[in-house]
Amino acid sequence: MKFFIDTANLEQIKEAQDLGVLDGVTTNPSLMAKEGIKGHENVINHYKAICEIVDGDVSAEVIATDYEGIVKEGEALAALNPQIVVKVPMIKDGIKAIKYFSSKGIKTNCTLVFSAGQALLAAKAGATYVSPFIGRLDDVSTDGLELIAQIRIIFDNYGYDTQILSASVRHTMHIIKCAELGSDVATCPLSAILGLLNHPLTDNGLKKFLEDAKKFQ
Ligand code: E4P
Repeated sequence: MKFFIDTANLEQIKEAQDLGVLDGVTTNPSLMAKEGIKGHENVINHYKAICEIVDGDVSAEVIATDYEGIVKEGEALAALNPQIVVKVPMIKDGIKAIKYFSSKGIKTNCTLVFSAGQALLAAKAGATYVSPFIGRLDDVSTDGLELIAQIRIIFDNYGYDTQILSASVRHTMHIIKCAELGSDVATCPLSAILGLLNHPLTDNGLKKFLEDAKKFQ
């Protein structure tokens, strides 16, 4: 399973990249705003800076919601760097735009997916990635992971190439369950990725090994 980091924070992206396990980055307007990025030029420069840190795909979300606007914005974003994946919302004009981008060889990430039907539409339109939001479904008492399982079955039934990019991941159990269910990618906060390192038996075991090592040094 590929690991993407779900942030626009350059320090966190660098930290995950330095760990050697990072396959890409996802951003969204809320994450960009959180970093205080303001103005078109600064936004563009920020995407370029992210692409310089990582080797893999970097999702950059369009703001337009009409077909022409999404296409114009998406083409400009895609022209920034071959790593850029145009992130398009799951709306009617978004699906049409994904079909267009797919025909032009521009990578897409269909975002704000909350149902299997939406994922199926995105795959049929030729999306590179589809982003089901696990955590936000959990927030409204709906099993987000169940949606990942459903989409996996549907995509496998018909051999869709669209990759399942599990999003709105909140903690380590989400990551582990996504891996069990065959999600192609999980985009995670840095804390959840680093959380995978932790086990008290590892800490205790290492402490004892290091104590014993002193006996023969
Ligand atoms: C990433 O592609 C999504 O925009 C993101 O995972 C949403 O996460 P949130 O539900 O924690 O805002």
